[in-house]
Amino acid sequence: MAKDSADPVSALRANTSVPFEQARAMPPEVYTSDEFLKAELDGIFSKDWYCVGRANGLGNPGDYTTCELAGQPVIVMRDRDGEIRALSNVCLHRMSTLLQGSGNVRSIVCPYHAWTYNLDGSLRGAPAMTLNEGFCKDQYQLPKVRCEEWLGWVFITLNPDAPAVAEQLSQVEELVAGYDMTNYTEVFFEEHVWDTNWKVLAENFMESYHLPVCHAGTIGGLSKLEDMVCPPGLEAFNYHTILKDETLRIAMAHDSNTRLKGEERRTTFLLAIYPSLLITLTPGYFWYLSLHPKGPGQVHIRFGGGMSDDYKEDADAQQNFVDLKALLDDVNVEDRGCTEKVFKGLSSALAAPGHLSHLERPNYDFARYLTAKTQETTAKEG
Ligand code: FES
Ligand SMILES: [Fe+2]
Repeated sequence: MAKDSADPVSALRANTSVPFEQARAMPPEVYTSDEFLKAELDGIFSKDWYCVGRANGLGNPGDYTTCELAGQPVIVMRDRDGEIRALSNVCLHRMSTLLQGSGNVRSIVCPYHAWTYNLDGSLRGAPAMTLNEGFCKDQYQLPKVRCEEWLGWVFITLNPDAPAVAEQLSQVEELVAGYDMTNYTEVFFEEHVWDTNWKVLAENFMESYHLPVCHAGTIGGLSKLEDMVCPPGLEAFNYHTILKDETLRIAMAHDSNTRLKGEERRTTFLLAIYPSLLITLTPGYFWYLSLHPKGPGQVHIRFGGGMSDDYKEDADAQQNFVDLKALLDDVNVEDRGCTEKVFKGLSSALAAPGHLSHLERPNYDFARYLTAKTQETTAKEG
């Protein structure tokens, strides 16, 4: 049955059915409606891989982080055998969530009645349960969630049929092979919540068009629109590149790096891996955002970064990175201001999407990806 014109999935389909040369920003209801959020949770976050961070951030047995993926609380943890695994973060007694945030534990103890699980999710013990004749400790095991590592990134999915991460992202691996992403070590990790839709923040990352203006107080002056290259996106990701100069030495390839040649040595890749892993990859340092919606009007952000191991022996590299992190924090304040203003604006009655610049090519590709994914879901339901 034909959808009426207010349906956000149809509105997005109409919006993305024109060639890039005529494209406009996505319609406002794609950001504001509960209906579109449901289509995203069903068609994207329940089906695709979601990145929880870097494997080195979970360096030791018992190191864990938690997240909520499409409504499912999940623990991602390094087990005693050194493997990173993911488990349901829901107790098998009266179904409280178990762990919060990130940290290190020797066992998983439920905060409600202290049922206690081993790191592999098997039940170790439960107080005062001996009189229940049906209870058998050995029959309790926290459900496992699929978890894969790829170039040092840790991904989880609720979809048993999702193709392997390495398969899905093989073109990313080829594109940035010379950067050797496995070789980057995370030195900070934070979680934030901003008052904007997750796609507004994702799209903000996908274009560097805003750098000279939104970031006039920090990096804007160093950003030249003519140095930005925005090729058409691929199926699982889009990207664009910018050039940095010697003023930020740790963005350059290290002298010991013989993998990158010529202009590559100062090229920064802005990778937007669908749905929501956004990586700034310079030859020297990296930082990333991994996004998850928290309702239409809020985004949960996993934010981390660090240096290429090429810089490991440089005495001043860590201090330079600390300085860079302070700069990134200032840049983020500016991005927060811009993306929260966008959400406020597009929530208003007179909001209407304007045409895209050629520097917003990745945004168009992202919109087409969203169209395809949300349509699959509604087609099945319809
Ligand atoms: S709900 Fe976890 S121990 Fe009771
Ligand atoms: Fe920005």
